[in-house]
Amino acid sequence: MNFKNKVILITGASSGIGKDTAIEFAKQGGKIILVARRKDKLEQVENELKKFHTTTLIIPCDVSKKDQVNQMSNLILEKFGSIDILVNNAGFAIYGSVLDLSLKDIESQMETNYFGMIYCIKKFLPSMLGKKSGHIVNVASVAASFGLPGIASYCASKFAMLGFSEGLKHELKGTGVGITVVSPIMVRTNFFDHPSFEKMPQYSPASLSSKTVAKAILKATNSSRLEIIVPSFVRGAVWLKNTFPYFINPIIEKSFKKQLDSKK
Ligand SMILES: NC(=O)c1ccc[n+]([C@@H]2O[C@H](COP(=O)([O-])OP(=O)(O)OC[C@H]3O[C@@H](n4cnc5c(N)ncnc54)[C@H](OP(=O)(O)O)[C@@H]3O)[C@@H](O)[C@H]2O)c1
Repeated sequence: MNFKNKVILITGASSGIGKDTAIEFAKQGGKIILVARRKDKLEQVENELKKFHTTTLIIPCDVSKKDQVNQMSNLILEKFGSIDILVNNAGFAIYGSVLDLSLKDIESQMETNYFGMIYCIKKFLPSMLGKKSGHIVNVASVAASFGLPGIASYCASKFAMLGFSEGLKHELKGTGVGITVVSPIMVRTNFFDHPSFEKMPQYSPASLSSKTVAKAILKATNSSRLEIIVPSFVRGAVWLKNTFPYFINPIIEKSFKKQLDSKK
């Protein structure tokens, strides 16, 4: 896809994957709408984008709050009429066993990672369908395919995102609007700054840069696939787990549970 003058909305654009995605789209002349809660961080990203001489707009918004998403989307639709690309990237995780996490911890992950995505899709899909074009990219995780001890509720939010996207993809067939999920393994971002990750080893040697994921997101906007796993060879691990769960699940359990137990 040629991104010149395309209107691109990125949630979670104040940091990490969202920030690098904004940079990659801006390099190619897209009009970038940056959405996240922290206005000061959004302003810093907007400043970084100045060198690409493209249109930018920042809108502070908590995507887990329906009224804030309504206000944000009304502003955008008034200004641009519609958007071309929606990247639902805002998300976070709280680490801990189901027993230790509060209901509020569990609900809040679902509210941002899953319902935040739905609130945005509900607001922008009608105008995309109206012009018979556009692409939605939902940033999930390999945690959308593996239920892992310590992040069960985060996994649930990403499984839900993948399932919702699959259903919606069928509904969108023939409309000109596409949807693709990008599912990375561990990425070196501020994601693990949440205090619940305090005692965790920060990054595995195989972890990705946010720029690698950003590039996958750009590719996804032109893809007919439901899910792009980054890096692609990890698709093999998902296949193995689905095909031979009795072989793979004990290995996963052993390695991830050890980490969870060591946190106590
Ligand atoms: N890092 C990883 O290992 C990894 C792996 C797979 C998938 N992912 C997914 O990648 C996405 C981006 O994460 P990241 O790694 O780039 O982490 P990050 O650097 O912590 O960025 C998360 C972004 O989401 C925003 N955000 C969080 N809650 C929000 C809310 N309620 N409303 C609006 N914005 C919100 C944050 O901005 P504000 O705080 O300013 O709101 C921030 O811009 C997430 O969906 C995450 O689940 C990450």
